[in-house]
Amino acid sequence: MSTKTLQKSLRYRHFEINSRLRYFKPESAKSNKTFAEEISRSLNQKEKSINPKFFYDIKGSELFDDICELPEYYLTRTETNLLKTIGNELEKFVTADMRLVELGSGSAVKTRLLLDVLTKIQNKTEYFPIDISDVLQESSLKLLEGYENLSITGVIDSYEGGLEFVEKYDNKPNLIAFLGSSFGNFTPEFGFAFLQKISSIMKNNDLFFIGLDLIKDKVVLENAYDDSAGITANFNLNILSRINAELNANFVISQFAHYSLYNEKEQRIEMYLRSLEDQKVEIKKANLQLSIEKDELIHTEHSHKYSISQIKNIMHKAGFEIEKIWHDTNKPYALFLASKN
Ligand SMILES: C[S@@+](CC[C@H](N)C(=O)[O-])C[C@H]1O[C@@H](n2cnc3c(N)ncnc32)[C@H](O)[C@@H]1O
Repeated sequence: MSTKTLQKSLRYRHFEINSRLRYFKPESAKSNKTFAEEISRSLNQKEKSINPKFFYDIKGSELFDDICELPEYYLTRTETNLLKTIGNELEKFVTADMRLVELGSGSAVKTRLLLDVLTKIQNKTEYFPIDISDVLQESSLKLLEGYENLSITGVIDSYEGGLEFVEKYDNKPNLIAFLGSSFGNFTPEFGFAFLQKISSIMKNNDLFFIGLDLIKDKVVLENAYDDSAGITANFNLNILSRINAELNANFVISQFAHYSLYNEKEQRIEMYLRSLEDQKVEIKKANLQLSIEKDELIHTEHSHKYSISQIKNIMHKAGFEIEKIWHDTNKPYALFLASKN
C-alpha cells in the first residue's frame, strides 16, 4: 500500500527524517483523546487503575532504561545473554528477504543482537520498530549509526495500531519480535487474544519471537520490582507526573508511594501507587474530580510469570507452531521462536 493511502486509512502523520529513517504517528487529536478518555474511565472506578502503556513518556522510558541496569532487575541481563548465545541457531530460521518488526522496541538495545543476525545474511535490512513512546525516534537514529545498510520505518503507536500497519503494508516476510517479557503485562485472557491477533495476521513465512520471564523464587521476583535504589518507585510515580503535565492534573506526588508484591496464586507481580493521605485530585482534561482515601491503591501494572509448559500450551491454542525454545535455567527465562500453524 502506498504511504499516502496508509496515512489516510489509518490516520497517521508521516515524518521523513532522512533517506533511511521515517516514522508514522497517529494524528495528535486521536492520541490525546485516547489518553484523556482512558484515564477518565480507569480512574473513575471503585478499583482505580492506570494502564501501564502510559508509563512511557520520555522520562518514563529513561527510567525504564535505568531499571534495566539495576542489579535486582535480572530480566534484561538474562535475555541479553541468551540472545548473545543463539545468533548462529537463529540464523538458520531467518531468510534473506525477512524484515524485523519489533513490538515495544524502547531504546532498541537488544534489537542490535537481532539485527546482527539479519545483516549477516542480507545486503539491505529493513526494521519496523513499533512503540507507543516518542523514544522510538531517538533510538532509531542511534541504530542507523551502527548499520549502514539498514532502513527504518517506525510506527509510534500501540501494539495493535502497529500490527494493523504492518498487516496492510506489504507481503514481505516478517520476523515479529516481542522482547523484555512485556507480554506479562497483559492479563492471561487479553494476552491470549493478543497472541491470536498476531498469529491471525502472520503469513506462512513469518516468524514470531517472544522473550518471557518464568516463575521463580518469590524474593528474587519481588526485589526485581522494588529495588533498593528506588528507581522502580520513581518509574511508577512518574506516571502521575505525566498525567499532571499532559492532562492538567494536580496529583501531589509526595502523597503517593510505590507498592508491589508477588501474588503466587495468580503468578504475577502486582504494582500499585498507594495513597498516603485522604486527598482530592482534579484532572481537568479528563473532566474528572477524584476523592482518594488514605491507603487506597491505584493499580498500575501486572507482570505475569509463566512456566514453559503453560506458554507452549497458550501459543499452541493461539495458532502457533513452536520452532525452538532457548532457556536460561539460572534465572529462569525463555525465548520462543514460532511460526503460524
Ligand atoms: C518493558 S519496556 C521493554 C523495552 C524493550 N523491548 C526491552 O526489552 O528492553 C516496554 C516497551 O513497550 C512500549 N509499550 C508499552 N506498552 C505499549 C503498547 N500498548 N503499545 C505499544 N508500545 C508499548 C513502551 O513504550 C516500552 O518502550
